[in-house]
Amino acid sequence: MQENYHPIGVFDSGYGGLTILKSIMEKLPEYDFIYLGDNARTPYGSRSYDIVYEYTRQAVMKLFSMGCQLVILACNTASAKALRTIQQNDLPLFDPSLRVLGVIRPSVEKIQFFTKTGHVGVLGTAGTILSDSYPLEIAKISDGKIIVTQEACPMWVPLVENDEISNPATDYFVCKNINNLFKNDPAIDTLILGCTHYPLLLPVIKKFIPENVTVFEQGPIVAASLSDYLFRHPEISMKCSKEGSCRFLTTESVKNFESRASIFLGSKLIAENIQL
Ligand code: DGL
Repeated sequence: MQENYHPIGVFDSGYGGLTILKSIMEKLPEYDFIYLGDNARTPYGSRSYDIVYEYTRQAVMKLFSMGCQLVILACNTASAKALRTIQQNDLPLFDPSLRVLGVIRPSVEKIQFFTKTGHVGVLGTAGTILSDSYPLEIAKISDGKIIVTQEACPMWVPLVENDEISNPATDYFVCKNINNLFKNDPAIDTLILGCTHYPLLLPVIKKFIPENVTVFEQGPIVAASLSDYLFRHPEISMKCSKEGSCRFLTTESVKNFESRASIFLGSKLIAENIQL
């Protein structure tokens, strides 16, 4: 490990977190980053708490061992199921000066400025939806005043991962889940895409939602929140190195990662394999 190399770690179960990384790098181009995708064990969305926690903990520890002082869990499922335990149990024992942040809290903090009806819809993996992380966090910031309706969309990640976004089958599943959501609460005016893959489905989603509905994408919100966090915590920002570099690590085949990742990042990249 280079002594002065302290990148910000960005972790996801696979490719999806690249959509978040893209926004973060646009907002904070001066920082160094390491992206780690656990492609060998993706998807996390249908896995149990214990497994998601253990896999996420391993990835976070790996990133710390590579010099990261701060790790972003750019995965909703990991943020929902592992973040709190890592923050409350692991970090105090391992090294209380290190930081791990998730994507749910920053998204929730902004939601009150978007909704006019006070009715919000959340789309996510089965794991994120069953964890109730979004309704619980939204209840905290709104004193229970914002009504949250959720819909798990288990088919959406595999459709994106398999590059089937333009397939009519994708229209079918997106339409089905959106219809379920709005049937359960027609007053929804704000929709949270609570999964890293869903921004890629935005053109399809927009075909099926009412015109007045605002779709809330996480990338720019998480990037703005991280920028604000680093401004408010100069003691953390000072520890992060700033050479404008980015390394990409995957637990799966480098070839596969390099060929698919550009769909999510919007540009080509060179990856390295890593074992957790
Ligand atoms: N990255 C995950 C999320 O945001 C989706 C992919 C998966 O299920 O692992 O929830």
